[in-house]
Amino acid sequence: MRRVFLLGMLALGATSLPAAANPRATALQVWKDPHCGCCKDWIVHMEQSGFRASVADDGNDAARARLGVAQKFASCHTALVQGYVIEGHVPVADILRLLKEKPKALGLAVPGMPIGSPGMDGPAYGGRQDAYQVLLIQKDGSAQVFTSYKGKA
Ligand code: CU
Ligand code: CU
Repeated sequence: MRRVFLLGMLALGATSLPAAANPRATALQVWKDPHCGCCKDWIVHMEQSGFRASVADDGNDAARARLGVAQKFASCHTALVQGYVIEGHVPVADILRLLKEKPKALGLAVPGMPIGSPGMDGPAYGGRQDAYQVLLIQKDGSAQVFTSYKGKA
């Protein structure tokens, strides 16, 4: 009886709490440019999938350097989740796969700001979708393709 009650409480909690108040949401630390709207849209993309972001609004160059991400992978925001660095507009699906598979890596990066990536998508871009790759990056600056996204004409 007690067990059933607890399970009921858990199920209720999972559906009724917004991500920001949900203690089971995965914490995401973000460093971003204060004037960058696409960073904000990427954070919304993450929070809609149950991540809880805490955001530092004074740029990401220092955080990127401190976390060991090579400059060639640079984008407009840098994040840290469960010990992995996320650079740029990485789709949440790739981050969930990273956290599940836990490969030996520094993290994931989408260098630059490709149009069609989460936060760089939608009506503001006329629905345009460019091809881009999510890279699995290492501390030594090497990388391999984690996911390839096709463009749409
Ligand atoms: Cu951006
Ligand atoms: Cu950004």
